[in-house]
Amino acid sequence: MWELVDNSSLDQNSAYKYLMMSEFFSDTCVIAKEDEKLVGFVTAFIPPEHPDVVFVWQIGVDSSQRGKGVASKLLNELVSREACREVRYLEATVTPSNEASQSLFRRLARDHDTECKVTERFTEEMFPGDDHEEELNFRIGPFKR
Ligand SMILES: CC(C)(COP(=O)(O)OP(=O)(O)OC[C@H]1O[C@@H](n2cnc3c(N)ncnc32)[C@H](O)[C@@H]1OP(=O)(O)O)[C@@H](O)C(=O)NCCC(=O)NCCS
Repeated sequence: MWELVDNSSLDQNSAYKYLMMSEFFSDTCVIAKEDEKLVGFVTAFIPPEHPDVVFVWQIGVDSSQRGKGVASKLLNELVSREACREVRYLEATVTPSNEASQSLFRRLARDHDTECKVTERFTEEMFPGDDHEEELNFRIGPFKR
């Protein structure tokens, strides 16, 4: 996962982050492989105070595999997991310029015949330095069970 992010435009986190997610939140993390090579992943968790939400920390697909529905499959696998049986909403933050990611989450809402609500979440001022866009909150749901 760290290597895939390193080769993409995604925000890089320390390798430790991916180890922590795999160690403690593997029920809500999904990877996609082709010929044993990791080509996509989603790292997510259920916030302790909001057991009806699964929050996607990061999703990424190798540039060679984009546009083939891999990310949509990763999200559908995530929300259908036993660990997400109480989950009614998926949330993620997305920058205004990230059209691919916005399309991905709107597509998830369409696939589940539900809503996608976009609200302010993390403003530019919350980030150190002055080269980070704001992060809008995408909330998809409620999912029918
Ligand atoms: C966002 C990302 C994960 C999408 O992965 P993917 O496997 O290509 O997505 P899918 O093939 O499942 O496509 C899902 C939807 O997004 C749309 N989409 C995919 N890439 C797009 C692009 N570059 N521009 C506009 N829409 C795009 C697809 O058309 C599809 O919508 P549709 O069914 O309405 O046509 C991938 O582009 C990526 O890894 N980007 C870099 C990392 C990133 O920005 N992650 C998100 C941070 S929150």
